[in-house]
Amino acid sequence: MPLTPIEPALKEVAVFMEDALHEFLPDPVGPQARVIEAMRYATLGGGKRVRAFLVLQSGRQFGVDRRALSRVASAVECVHAYSLAHDDLPAMDDDDTRRGKPSTHKQFDEATAILAGDALLTHAFALLASTDTHADPHVRADLVARLAQAAGWNGMVGGQMIDMAAQGDVSDIGHITRLQRLKTGALIVFAAEAGAIMGKASHQARQALTNYAQDLGLAFQIADDLLDVEGDPAIMGKAAGKDQKAGKATFVTVLGPERARAQAELLAKQAAQHLEVFDEKADLLRGLAAYVVNRRA
Ligand code: IPE
Ligand code: IPE
Ligand code: MG
Ligand code: MG
Ligand code: MG
Repeated sequence: MPLTPIEPALKEVAVFMEDALHEFLPDPVGPQARVIEAMRYATLGGGKRVRAFLVLQSGRQFGVDRRALSRVASAVECVHAYSLAHDDLPAMDDDDTRRGKPSTHKQFDEATAILAGDALLTHAFALLASTDTHADPHVRADLVARLAQAAGWNGMVGGQMIDMAAQGDVSDIGHITRLQRLKTGALIVFAAEAGAIMGKASHQARQALTNYAQDLGLAFQIADDLLDVEGDPAIMGKAAGKDQKAGKATFVTVLGPERARAQAELLAKQAAQHLEVFDEKADLLRGLAAYVVNRRA
């Protein structure tokens, strides 16, 4: 089956999301303008918007209104932008460049980057909780609860903690898989489930998206780890070679680049296979699986 070209579709979503985020983020006015400027700086003007794409495409399977989806996609991108602003701080990965620009703490200062991240995280929940996102309060509560889970101690934050601590046997592939499922996978799974939640999809359809996104998320992070070794910083918009310097445990350090790449490709194939329950409307989701392992940024 010929796959729909993914790159123009991702570009379209990036443009669409820039407008949506511009609208849904607060205006930098008043005495707290500086933190709002930093929130906007961390979120706008860059990023592949893969998580937003997942929200929009999963919602499309169930005919969910695109404007409502764009609120949830914005919420996910706010959480993601917060995670990057904090990930780049000196106390974490200490990276000066992000999305081809100075990291948020370099552009502003550390305190502002911390506060902007905090505010982006809470802003995401405000976006979800609004009646503009969904008329049904149960749906809104489900979105809030699932994002809280995906972002928190048993999701992204938990994964970041394990990543920082480099605890356990770093040659253990199971340990790294758990780390990555939390650090990167959890938010990607939420993004893919969000459309199903909003569309009140069947258990089977929602589970298919969850399974897809679990494999996709792992493939996505393996590709990120490969890019850290093999990627071009000018294309990626961030430094390379940082993981080895920091002694991070990744699929690449354990398996080596060839086997890590093979693993990512296998996971991407597997991801697409979970979408058998969907028709050709899911072709962009299928195409995304192939894209994440071959991407250069
Ligand atoms: C980078 O995420 C951090 C990871 C979780 C691997 P992305 O590669 O999605 O970053 P942007 O949003 O495109 O900048
Ligand atoms: C970051 O992973 C994951 C999160 C921010 C949750 P990395 O530390 O590998 O991301 P990059 O390489 O800095 O983008
Ligand atoms: Mg990190
Ligand atoms: Mg990092
Ligand atoms: Mg990385």
